Amino acid sequence: MTSQHETNEAPFRHRFVVNDPRIAYLDGNSLGRLPQATKDRIQQVVSQEWGEDLIGSWNRSWLPIAKRIGDKIASLIGASPGEVMVCDSTSINLYKAAWALLQRRGNRKTIVTDAANFPTDLYILDGLRQQLGSDLRLEPLVLDQSDHSQVNRALADAINDDTALVCLSHVNYKTGYAFDLPGVTELAHGKEAPILWDLSHSVGAIPLDLGNAQVDAAVGCTYKYLNGGPGAPAFIMIRGDLIRELSNPIPGWFGAANPFQFGAIYEPASGIERFAIGTPPILSLAAIEPGVDLTCEAGMMMLRQRGWGLMQQFFQLYDERLQSLGFRLETPRHQDSAGSHVSLSHKDAWQITQDLIHTYRVVPDFRGPDIIRFGITPLYTLASEVEQAAFAMEASVTQGTFRSHPKQARGVT
Ligand SMILES: Cc1ncc(COP(=O)(O)O)c(C=O)c1O
Repeated sequence: MTSQHETNEAPFRHRFVVNDPRIAYLDGNSLGRLPQATKDRIQQVVSQEWGEDLIGSWNRSWLPIAKRIGDKIASLIGASPGEVMVCDSTSINLYKAAWALLQRRGNRKTIVTDAANFPTDLYILDGLRQQLGSDLRLEPLVLDQSDHSQVNRALADAINDDTALVCLSHVNYKTGYAFDLPGVTELAHGKEAPILWDLSHSVGAIPLDLGNAQVDAAVGCTYKYLNGGPGAPAFIMIRGDLIRELSNPIPGWFGAANPFQFGAIYEPASGIERFAIGTPPILSLAAIEPGVDLTCEAGMMMLRQRGWGLMQQFFQLYDERLQSLGFRLETPRHQDSAGSHVSLSHKDAWQITQDLIHTYRVVPDFRGPDIIRFGITPLYTLASEVEQAAFAMEASVTQGTFRSHPKQARGVT
């Protein structure tokens, strides 16, 4: 186990903006901190590239950004250069990738997913079911997400010759359960079904090897562990040998082979660019790169090792101080089956969350009806922040300070 001394020295923390060190910010799994270098990069894009160079910046610096960052993200997830690009939102990329894979479904009729998947994933899959034809069925499985053997068994029962697509989030946004990505991918491929992973809660937090697992497609957010900024564009990954076989349901000009020839007939780009749609949002796109660069510099192995040390510290504090106070640990304790956030349920979770923020300077988030989520962002989370969170929960409940907050959940956390 990594010692507290080690985990209290986050070697990359000084590369981020930390205005008030008294605040324990444990919400980097929702919105990552601002990298120092992003301020300079944005300043450069706005003042120089936009302000002075204007349209010339497209050729000089803007056009290659989406693929360049895509290649860097590819290195973080074990994909190859040319398999990833940054564009649109995770929701839109999920739609494009799922639609593309479903075009090849033949007579297969079932989309297998997790009933506890993130809502946008469920909505999009159900939307596709409605749009693509009455023959399709969505099968959201209710899985006991505590260990791989149970989950894999349930998936092995559900995936069969009728499966048109398996679509799962690698790490569950609520519980923090991490699916056995290589094992489940193999299960799907064993039945010749394609698999699409949503990596929003794992990219930048845990090492991934999509290439080795032969994953067909993946999508994910850049504003969480990659620290790309609020609403930053997402990424899409398509396995190299599939790119030319799959098409984009929204054939926009930026996905065309030669956008600046302005041809009347759409001809898709031969590479991953075919999954682009329209003009990339350069300011948001440029803001992603410094966070991705920091993650590449740190390396996923080091980050996971540090992050897991902090997770273990949290589990231990839960055992010693919180378990007896009505908190329940929802996150698996095994490294193979946990992402990088700790979720505790409590019947007064909303009020405790408010109390942590307003009384104890601890920022987690709340996921209804009863979960408090603590993101461990290995680039900058400190052991002292984990301790502050656990002590604050203990104090909030034993001293009853949470009761001063309204019971009704409101707004974003
Ligand atoms: C698993 C997962 N997928 C997708 C999203 C969000 O997608 P988008 O960026 O399109 O809002 C989230 C947001 O938290 C998420 O947790």
